[in-house]
Amino acid sequence: MNVPEVVEYARGLKHVAFADEGKWSCSVDYLAKIKEAIKEHNLNRVVIASCTPRTHEPLFKQTVKEAGLNPYLLEFVSIREQDSWVHMGEPERATQKAKDLIKMGVAKAIFLEEGEEIRLPVQTDCLVIGGGVAGMSAALQIADQGFQTILVEREPKLGGLLNRVSTVSHDHGVMPAPEIVRVKATLVESHPNINVYTDTEIESLQGYIGNYKVKLKTNGKSSEEALDISTIIVATGMKELEPTGQYEYGSDSRVITQLELEELLRGMSGNSEPLYGTVSNRSLLKVKDVVMINCVNSKNETRGCCNIGCSISVKNALALKKLQPDLQIHILYRDLSMVKEEHFHLDEAKAAGIKFIRFPDDHYPQLVKEDGRFVIRVYDILLGKELEIPSDMLVLTTAFKGNETVGQIKGYLKVSANSDGFFQEAHVKLGPVDFPSAGISLSGCAKSPKNFKESCEEGMAAAMRVSIPMKKGYIEAEGIVADIDLTDCSKCSLCYKNCPFSAIQLDENKQPSVIKALCKGCGLCAADCPKECITIVHYSDEQLLAQVEAALEESPEKKILGFVCHWCALGGVDMAGVSRLQYPSNARLIRVMCSARVPIKLIERAFELGAAGVLVVGCEFPTCHYITGNYACEARMNRAKKKLSKKGVDPDKLWVDWCSAADGPKFANIMRDMVKQLNLG
Ligand code: FES
Repeated sequence: MNVPEVVEYARGLKHVAFADEGKWSCSVDYLAKIKEAIKEHNLNRVVIASCTPRTHEPLFKQTVKEAGLNPYLLEFVSIREQDSWVHMGEPERATQKAKDLIKMGVAKAIFLEEGEEIRLPVQTDCLVIGGGVAGMSAALQIADQGFQTILVEREPKLGGLLNRVSTVSHDHGVMPAPEIVRVKATLVESHPNINVYTDTEIESLQGYIGNYKVKLKTNGKSSEEALDISTIIVATGMKELEPTGQYEYGSDSRVITQLELEELLRGMSGNSEPLYGTVSNRSLLKVKDVVMINCVNSKNETRGCCNIGCSISVKNALALKKLQPDLQIHILYRDLSMVKEEHFHLDEAKAAGIKFIRFPDDHYPQLVKEDGRFVIRVYDILLGKELEIPSDMLVLTTAFKGNETVGQIKGYLKVSANSDGFFQEAHVKLGPVDFPSAGISLSGCAKSPKNFKESCEEGMAAAMRVSIPMKKGYIEAEGIVADIDLTDCSKCSLCYKNCPFSAIQLDENKQPSVIKALCKGCGLCAADCPKECITIVHYSDEQLLAQVEAALEESPEKKILGFVCHWCALGGVDMAGVSRLQYPSNARLIRVMCSARVPIKLIERAFELGAAGVLVVGCEFPTCHYITGNYACEARMNRAKKKLSKKGVDPDKLWVDWCSAADGPKFANIMRDMVKQLNLG
């Protein structure tokens, strides 16, 4: 592009007091020049037109701050990744596009307002809900850092599922579960920073990070006072999904689950009496043939792999064989998924004579009775024929689900659970032990089935997450937050219901207010507010509208107005730039933090102004950085299409798509397709 021409153009724009060209704008020397210019010309807004805000915006924000300006008075325009690198064969069009992008940046800058980081104090009391291995690991980790920890367990003793289990796999061997519980519980109960409440449930819980009030109920008796808590870890564990009615489970006592087998083994090994004792009256003495069927209720249309069933079946088969070497044991499986460290069980089991039979995904083994005796019919994939295996005991490796407290706790904390009844983490990669709301973490089997080692690790990970604000003594939120003007508020509560971060609270009159430290600035509330009462600092309606109008001031019929989310969508745009993918130069993109920020009225306005097309791009499902933003955007865009249609605008001119940050080629293709379909030539 012709940079001097672009600079000259910028200099002539209304409200621009100073414009300059720098070859290396992010160099120390040039940053110093920017600071000098701000002071010398008494500038009150700055527009940087250069690379991508995803990498360099913090640097320029810091620069304007050092020059005495509020950093939120900076606007960043990408004329490299979005322009010079992707329109290399069209210098004139690239120059024109740069002018437009800068004009849009200036138009927005006029409306920029000062912002500030918000701090909320956080004390050092943590509530851990659940006294299983994950909860105990979390409590110890927190307490060892000097923080006060309250550990609440609804059962009479600590240990969770390990109280029903015989052994756990550990370090190329097994460890007795009762011993693990004994050691860990002793550490927890004797720790000066941990208060343990057993036989205790959560009676009420409300608030937000740094400011939770929790009431407990011990042995059915409510606590008199609410406890003040700053952070919370949810480690409520899981339970087996009972295979009621399947393979005669529940009606024939010879059919048991792996967990019930664990209890049996626990009783027989003399480790200790099983706590629950549901199968303690059964005996292995008369059993000669044991068959285990894996993947009962897992790996089907409704549930995925249970993660731990295969290794549990192999471990338990081996334990049985050791107790009674003459037992015949068959494990019927679809696929043996075991982590590397557990493969020694497999080798040992094969060496001990345990038989493994693989059956097809859509052809589960059948149980038939012959003279009262079990016969299991199974199609062996490797032999290519059906086998009949006699059995005196059938062990079902069944799926797991979140335990019964999930519903209550998710209501208290305003968090989500998935269809399997487990809590849903904030983001599978970016927040695997976080909930969307700050200060609450989840760990262990409350999230999905885990083995012992993973549960310990996740407990510690969750502890570290909540320790960060407790160590700092505060949490800080960026200045990009929602602000509610109650003048026209109809108290519809939509903002309160839809906020993915529980950052909006209602008072007794249903009036909403924003807990700024919890707000992440996605803009979902603002875009859906029927009364337009909500403003997002740095992405206000008037700022976005100014950009739309500036973009479409000239030749709108040739232009595609685009809204891209700052995270994956802009990442895809940048990737196209870095990869020098060439695509048509018709798009003028407006950055929003999340696709959820794009209101229908801006799309309508773009078409009123004559835009050839409008494009909205967000993160791929389910990876929106604001949890549910892209879902909200998708629903709204469907409504937008209907509204456009009613107004006589072809709804096919509104394109909605989803990208990952690596989707440079996809973004370039979207541009090519749009230009072709809209006949922009
Ligand atoms: Fe990309 Fe929400 S952050 S769609």
